[in-house]
Amino acid sequence: MRKVGVLTSGGDAPGMNAALRAVVRSGVAAGVQVVGIERGFQGLMAGSLRPMDAGSVSNIINRGGTILRSARSEEFKTAAGQARAAQVIEREAIDGLVLIGGDGTYRGGLAINSTCGVRVVGIPGTIDNDIPGTRYTIGFDTAINTAMDAIDRVRDTSASHDRVFVVEVMGRHNGFIAMEVGLAAGAEAVIIPECPCDMIGLCEEVMAWNARGKMSCIIIVAEGAASAADVATAITQVTRIETRLTVLGHIQRGGSPSARDRALATRFGHHAVQLLREGATNVMVGVQEGSEVVASPLEQVLEGRRDLNLSLFDVVRVMAT
Ligand code: F6P
Repeated sequence: MRKVGVLTSGGDAPGMNAALRAVVRSGVAAGVQVVGIERGFQGLMAGSLRPMDAGSVSNIINRGGTILRSARSEEFKTAAGQARAAQVIEREAIDGLVLIGGDGTYRGGLAINSTCGVRVVGIPGTIDNDIPGTRYTIGFDTAINTAMDAIDRVRDTSASHDRVFVVEVMGRHNGFIAMEVGLAAGAEAVIIPECPCDMIGLCEEVMAWNARGKMSCIIIVAEGAASAADVATAITQVTRIETRLTVLGHIQRGGSPSARDRALATRFGHHAVQLLREGATNVMVGVQEGSEVVASPLEQVLEGRRDLNLSLFDVVRVMAT
């Protein structure tokens, strides 16, 4: 392994910079040349590369976002786009790629591996925590802490005014963020894409809580399940209780990564370089229950599903009593 390219792709996540730093430093320590590829696959096709030395990643472990920038590239999904990227890889003599991102990023990785044979290792970086093959993705811990912090503030005003608050969090396809932050922030209900929501049942619960003196409550909605505005309107119409809404949006994607995300990203980055040096390809690093870092075939990651533990609804329900 002589030269490794590293890129960040898809939605950014706090901790991507920490992973980049680990890839660069581990590469340099092993005598491997590292180049940063700007704006994900878009930059790979355009040949936007920058040589990275140990100093180039100084003081970024604590920074949110990604200094390499990120993009979602439609062009790279085409055979012509992949051929352009392959030309750059061959011209630059890159023999390994570390791809920091989510499932779309791995699909791109498999495509470029089959186009030109470059070895590919993925690092799971997304706030959604929805990647099979790992218990945690980089950015999830920071995102839920950011959301929890915001909801704590919402709780103060909600309690002061005896209001229902509907808080919309990210999660287009699943409720990992919604459920975890619902538990951590003590929400009375959580609405997620995995389960149909019985709005009338929820409104009756809100009225029952109200009748026995619980005058304010917080309802978390994952963006993929419903819009906070629709949920708030329905609650007001049915219960006649004053309801407000807050959409947290991209606030959840920014900010300095938590200790857990920085440490995880550092371990992932280090392990990804080791795997490339050992000749591995088409795998993603991940962490399992026992906290060991492991590798899973990308095909398995893309075919798999991570299911949310729906029994957590019972915990939310009990906590709401
Ligand atoms: O995948 C990460 C994520 O933040 C999702 O939770 C969210 O639905 C999506 O990206 C938003 O994408 P964009 O930044 O393109 O609006």
